[in-house]
Amino acid sequence: MKIKLNDNKVFFDDNGIKKEIHPFWLRERINSEDYVDKSTQQRLFDPTKIQKKIKIESINLIDGFLEVKFNDGAFAKLSTQDIIKEFKNNNFVKFIKKEKWDSSFKNENTIKYEDNFFEKKEMYHALINFYKYGFIIFKNVPTKNNFLVNFANSIGSVRRTNFGEFFNVRSKPNPNDLAYTSLPLAPHTDNPYRNPVPCIQILHCIENEVSGGFSTLVDGFTVTERLKKDFPEYYKILSETKVRFQFVDKTVVLEDWAEMIKLDEKGEFKQVRFSPRLDFVPLMDSEKLETYYAARKKISEYYNSGKFRIEFKLLPGDLLMMDNYRLLHGRTTFDTNEGKRFLQGCYIDYDSTEGKLKHLKRKFNL
Ligand SMILES: [Fe+2]
Repeated sequence: MKIKLNDNKVFFDDNGIKKEIHPFWLRERINSEDYVDKSTQQRLFDPTKIQKKIKIESINLIDGFLEVKFNDGAFAKLSTQDIIKEFKNNNFVKFIKKEKWDSSFKNENTIKYEDNFFEKKEMYHALINFYKYGFIIFKNVPTKNNFLVNFANSIGSVRRTNFGEFFNVRSKPNPNDLAYTSLPLAPHTDNPYRNPVPCIQILHCIENEVSGGFSTLVDGFTVTERLKKDFPEYYKILSETKVRFQFVDKTVVLEDWAEMIKLDEKGEFKQVRFSPRLDFVPLMDSEKLETYYAARKKISEYYNSGKFRIEFKLLPGDLLMMDNYRLLHGRTTFDTNEGKRFLQGCYIDYDSTEGKLKHLKRKFNL
């Protein structure tokens, strides 16, 4: 990739494919201190207020810098590297390869928490693993005073919901969600009825004295790719049919229509939603519904199969951070007479982890 000049025009040359760069595009990137605040990197001018039709009066390419004089008197000295960067998709987080896993996954994927952890290189590696596998477990995280909230806010910001800033997971009388019982919870994704669905769930184990109550995780990416291979028509209908997910309690009615398998614009995996107690399929043709029900049954079998699930016990201080768009989670049953089982949970969104990861990459020059 190169920047080239010809006849007061600037071109971007990508392996012989030449495209002109619009003069205005360059004009609004002027970054000298009269135009951009150095500490915030924000513009001190509003490009929408520029009245004149912007043209280039003169240009020069010297030592890796493009010098441009515009017809409104403005002058820009821009690094060609910075310009080239803008033409590449430089969001490296999007390029972290998802590693598919199933029940044979042997990597414990844990990292020991330490003081000032959030500004250390180890945090960078922990987040890389989170994007690779869809989860990471931090060990020895302080359990006092709802430390989970500090933890979440040190990565980004807590995503508050109608369950509060955070929620306490333990069995309680008159629960408004099965999570607050000692019943087993089949693999599910959280809050499919919200728009947008919370991206990341954090679960922090405070006490765990029971012999059961194992945490379970399933990789929705592995399962849906497998379904695509084994039953393409099921994969198709689940990725094309929007169903209504709903949550109702005394104070709120939440609903959203979405596919169980959400694909991106390239037709690749983006998100799974699965919570068979909360989904309502629209009334479609009988034949289509027949396929839909068979597809839902099959994906449920896969999600619940021991072939795809990992199971582990969270110990006090363990903090599980999981991708709610990729993974399903659940737990095995436990006996409340054996002792206490107390977890705290909250949500954060992808901008938190992405922002932190990019900051650490910049800080350590990784
Ligand atoms: Fe859940």
